Amino acid sequence: MSQPASDRPEGPALKVLHIASESVPYAKTGGLADVVGALPIAQARMGLDVRVVLPGYGSVNRQGLEKLPIALGVPMGPREEWGAVLRRVDQDVAVFFLEHDHFYNRPWLYGPPGDAFGDNLERFVFLSRGALQLCHATQWFPDIVHAHDWHAAIAPVYLNSVERTTPLGRAASVLTIHNIDFQGNFPAEQMPYTGLGWEHFTFLEMEYHGKVSLLKGGIAHSTVLTTVSPTYAWEIQSSPLGQGMEGMMRERHDFLVGILNGIDYAIWNPETDPYIPVRYSVETRSSRAACKEALQRRLGLEPHPGTPLLGMVTRLSWQKGIDVLLEALPRILDLDVQVVILGAGDPALEKEVSALGERWPGRAASVAGYSEELAHQIYAGSDFFLMPSRFEPGGLGQLYALRYGSLPIVRATGGLVDTVQCYEEKTGEGTGFAFNDLTPGALADAAGWATWAFHNRPSHVDGMRKAAMLTRFSWDDSAQRYFEVYRWALRLRRG
Ligand code: ADP
Ligand code: GLC
Repeated sequence: MSQPASDRPEGPALKVLHIASESVPYAKTGGLADVVGALPIAQARMGLDVRVVLPGYGSVNRQGLEKLPIALGVPMGPREEWGAVLRRVDQDVAVFFLEHDHFYNRPWLYGPPGDAFGDNLERFVFLSRGALQLCHATQWFPDIVHAHDWHAAIAPVYLNSVERTTPLGRAASVLTIHNIDFQGNFPAEQMPYTGLGWEHFTFLEMEYHGKVSLLKGGIAHSTVLTTVSPTYAWEIQSSPLGQGMEGMMRERHDFLVGILNGIDYAIWNPETDPYIPVRYSVETRSSRAACKEALQRRLGLEPHPGTPLLGMVTRLSWQKGIDVLLEALPRILDLDVQVVILGAGDPALEKEVSALGERWPGRAASVAGYSEELAHQIYAGSDFFLMPSRFEPGGLGQLYALRYGSLPIVRATGGLVDTVQCYEEKTGEGTGFAFNDLTPGALADAAGWATWAFHNRPSHVDGMRKAAMLTRFSWDDSAQRYFEVYRWALRLRRG
């Protein structure tokens, strides 16, 4: 749906270049891909001229991609690397893929499970600098370079150095930090591949405890910084959630804004979702019972409608508090609930999670791996959705859970604070349950509270489901916020 002409920004369309390491539907390991897949489309709907540059991973489906007659030479310090360029235009967004067999034709995006490729600096310098080279090759010069996470964070450094006096030098940069825990820190010997002089290897720019830090370079050089929730924007200005970058974030806090992610309602809609066994709307939400039963049967859980079902869909990593959940599980299962976990990531955690079904047959089920289909079925079929995150910059899982009427049980951190309204026993208001201390006891207590409400306050729980399903996190609103940030960044850059 297009925005009415009167709501569109006036004047020539603002040109925006997104640079990112993953995007739906081409490559995804987490929420970053959902954002990069959806925000540019919402921006194009607003009338912006939007391009996205991604790595041409071997796993990207080539169907419908057009090979451009461009041989892309990317300076990488002591040498130059050459790549090919593929393009696809989707919903008015031109998506470009940089192909480089050696860098991107590998079985994983960043490295084998639990590990990282040793040449990731080169792989993502190629992406970032390559994206800027592509602008020269196509003579299309953006007003805004929007870099996502450490993979693209060096682009703003180039705009202030090697590109300062080229037509790209007029572009303002925006770096969105989706997760400050991932910093792109590499041995100092790799600095030359950036093509930047050692004068950039100082504690004010790219040097971080003797390593070269791509994220730190981006934090220092971006015109404006954003992160994916207001609470996280505040949290990363101090320890521990600043993960060592808190000093930099405080230094630049006047240029830091938190903007919540949205949901792609075309994909995440229980009324049309092709993955779920029974479709439902806010009005017909009682049909969720059929989704619950189908989920229970699919995973070998006892098909009891009256037993609360707690779901989780997650990357298995320290960030997600899965270790705390595993410790809390005996207490949680004592509450007479069922638990289902879908998770991929850390191999040791995958192994632990896989064993749950055997330990508590009929009451706990787990699937190790990545499954879009099962993820949707868990959002639709669970009564409550677990996110005991250690930190959560934005979080999309809880937004999908809300949309599907599964009430989130969350640790009060980052975007979870900003998007889940905690239950008020007196009024019945709220959309989920929050707890503060990341301990097995506090998590089990929160699960106990949700279970208590399920059995003793069913009208509250149903009202909360309704409120949750009606809560809107629209990409159009977020795109409008980013647009304001872009205008601000341009004023800062161009005066
Ligand atoms: P993060 O990006 O930190 O992993 P988010 O909550 O922002 O956390 O986004 C996670 C996204 O990845 C959601 O779209 C969620 O449904 C999806 N996801 C995570 N793990 C899996 C999995 N094992 N199978 C399917 N989808 C998953
Ligand atoms: C990161 C964060 C997550 C956020 C996502 C998209 O992966 O961990 O909280 O929702 O990026 O911004």
